[in-house]
Amino acid sequence: MKVLFINGSPRKNGCTYTALHEIEKILNEEGIETEYVNGPSNVSPCMVCEYCHGKERKGCVKNDIVNETYAKLDECDGIVVGTPVYYAGPSGSLKCFLDRLFYSYPNKSTLNLKAAASISNSRRGGNITSNDVVTRFFSISGMTVITSTYWNDVHGEEPEDVLKDEEAMQTMRNLGRNMAYYIKARKFAKENGIEDPAIEKGKYTNFIR
Ligand SMILES: Cc1cc2nc3c(=O)[nH]c(=O)nc-3n(C[C@H](O)[C@H](O)[C@H](O)COP(=O)(O)O)c2cc1C
Repeated sequence: MKVLFINGSPRKNGCTYTALHEIEKILNEEGIETEYVNGPSNVSPCMVCEYCHGKERKGCVKNDIVNETYAKLDECDGIVVGTPVYYAGPSGSLKCFLDRLFYSYPNKSTLNLKAAASISNSRRGGNITSNDVVTRFFSISGMTVITSTYWNDVHGEEPEDVLKDEEAMQTMRNLGRNMAYYIKARKFAKENGIEDPAIEKGKYTNFIR
């Protein structure tokens, strides 16, 4: 069992990491491995070249950190994306990274029912809208959004501020517990003959036909 952490801050060990690490500690205690994709901070946007949707499904034409993440997504049972809040939204490069990752990932159907959560750090405000943007990548992909005991919001300008935000830290730990529970329950279900639902495919109609 493994969870992939994506840290959308250019500050590798900053506030966002501090919050992610609080979740990570619980997952590790629960026997779940963790891995990071750190600071996709120089990621360029999707060019809509559609190379990734060609017959061979080779992934993104840019062949960078996005492509390096496919294998990590393949092998994980859940993901946690953390973002700093920039103007009440996720960091721009994280948005570019997620656009290209979710659009070009060759094994998209395997995301169905995988655990996913978004957390964000701001100095003062804008977390709700930032988490909304990130969470939409999960809900369009059939992932199971793991929640906690309050909003997944953490506050600070420096990591030591985050540690003082005691309720936020508690929320992170409970998120880790809920995610561990879900991942274990899903594994148990599979081992006991409860298969993932058969998903219907093939229809692709634009809104205006
Ligand atoms: C471009 C930019 C925009 C920001 N916008 C906001 C904002 O809308 N609300 C807020 O509370 N903090 C804002 N901040 C502060 C960041 O949220 C804060 O520095 C960051 O979450 C720290 O996390 P990190 O150490 O992981 O980078 C902004 C910072 C930058 C650089």
